[in-house]
Amino acid sequence: MASIAVCPGSFDPITYGHLDIIRRGAKVFDKVYVVVLNNSAKHPLFSVSERIDLIKEVTKEFPNVLVDEFSGLLVDYAKSVNATAILRGLRAVSDFEYEMQITSMNRYLNDHVETFFMMTNNQYSFLSSSIVKEVAKYNGDISALVPPVVERELKKKYGK
Ligand code: PNS
Repeated sequence: MASIAVCPGSFDPITYGHLDIIRRGAKVFDKVYVVVLNNSAKHPLFSVSERIDLIKEVTKEFPNVLVDEFSGLLVDYAKSVNATAILRGLRAVSDFEYEMQITSMNRYLNDHVETFFMMTNNQYSFLSSSIVKEVAKYNGDISALVPPVVERELKKKYGK
């Protein structure tokens, strides 16, 4: 049976930190669905279709990575694509409590789907979409943090 994982997130926008997890996940699982979901605690800068387009562009070299969106529960999406794994990146101890909470909730909702964590590459351990947006907004250098196409779109958003 093929191993299918879902790599969920807000991806607002995708960073090299996300890409590192997706790239490594694509080596471990037969198929990885990168899915843009709604995080009700966040107010996104990019529309869902803009985020999808950026993710598609930067993951096009990975043949077993598919990009999708969903507006319901992550576990329902996982079931709809026969995924038995959820893949998340873990940056630092500060991520732990939040990840523990969503992992426990997802397990409560569907205990047939197992969550797997990959430690983010050290060079990206400080990286988040929010911090990249903050730096981009004030014209800081984000070239080592996001792919060029994402950098371009961020500059457009902030009128740079
Ligand atoms: O990149 P993020 O914002 O940390 O990702 C969080 C996300 C989108 C994976 C999470 O909010 C989510 O799964 N949302 C979908 C709704 C859901 O399933 N909620 C129950 C588990 S918290």
